Amino acid sequence: MAGVTNAPFRLVARECGAGPLTSEEIDARALLQGSARTLALARSLPEERPIAMQLLGADPDVLAEAARRLEAEGADAIDLNMGCPVAKIVAKGQGAALMRDPLGAALLFRAVRKAVTVPFTIKIRGGWDDRTVNAAEIARIAEAEGVDAVTVHPRTRSQQFTGRAPWEIIAEVVDAVRVPVIGNGDVRSRADARAMREATGCAAVMIGRGALGAPWIFSDSTEPRVTRDRRRPSIIRRHCDLIEALIPAGHALVQLKKHLAWYSSGLPFAARLRQDLFAAADTTQVREIFWSGWSDAGASA
Ligand SMILES: Cc1cc2nc3c(=O)[nH]c(=O)nc-3n(C[C@H](O)[C@H](O)[C@H](O)COP(=O)(O)O)c2cc1C
Repeated sequence: MAGVTNAPFRLVARECGAGPLTSEEIDARALLQGSARTLALARSLPEERPIAMQLLGADPDVLAEAARRLEAEGADAIDLNMGCPVAKIVAKGQGAALMRDPLGAALLFRAVRKAVTVPFTIKIRGGWDDRTVNAAEIARIAEAEGVDAVTVHPRTRSQQFTGRAPWEIIAEVVDAVRVPVIGNGDVRSRADARAMREATGCAAVMIGRGALGAPWIFSDSTEPRVTRDRRRPSIIRRHCDLIEALIPAGHALVQLKKHLAWYSSGLPFAARLRQDLFAAADTTQVREIFWSGWSDAGASA
């Protein structure tokens, strides 16, 4: 997730038990142009492997060259973003806009497939809008072009992130192709993940917002609840330490505020606590505010 699933978050997710990880979306053209910000997005640590690097773009040659570079730098898989609904992205024909042009998508698949030897996967939406739900068609084309797996976030671009994620579209894609299908959308717990697998037959589940402020969603569900709850403060501390160690100072403060605000959800007075977090001047102050809110809530810090 852009602005969220950077190295500190990915490491914490992995330490909690997450399987394969994916980078934030990486603009293929900006990568080739050497943009410092984009190069930073494309960096990962050995402990994060296996990790897929996700590309955003619409030009077959640019995407192929960017994929080649990412593979050379150690990506374990290349994922193509065909789901981003953001207006300025789709205006460039990227992200979810790729769903509107199946023929063009086939050319992209072919170009990237030829460029890399690591697994090549795509992440699609249900379609552009409710009149053009074509996830199964795109998945079939992708399979024919040698794509190794398909992740489906079944909302259409018009739905953005609102309304229920229609899991039945994931099931349609599962029926349409033989390659593994990874289901995504509205999974907030292990029980949801199980329910999605049962309802759709998907091979794996990708979790997005359900992991925000709750990376323990990836942990072993057989662990007793008290033990799990007791580990939470140390997971949060570890996340904060990683943010401060791995992210440049100015940006680290923003990241700490954002993630600690997510960790605050469910605490009493969370709204007030969030206001205080966002008003804090430095990382020490943010951490102090959070932990005093945490102990006020009676949680064992
Ligand atoms: C802040 C934010 C950033 C996101 N960035 C990306 C991204 O870079 N690439 C991507 O494939 N999906 C991105 N997504 C979509 C999520 O991966 C996921 O498909 C969507 O949130 C639905 O799944 P969920 O209900 O588990 O969150 C983003 C979502 C959010 C909320």
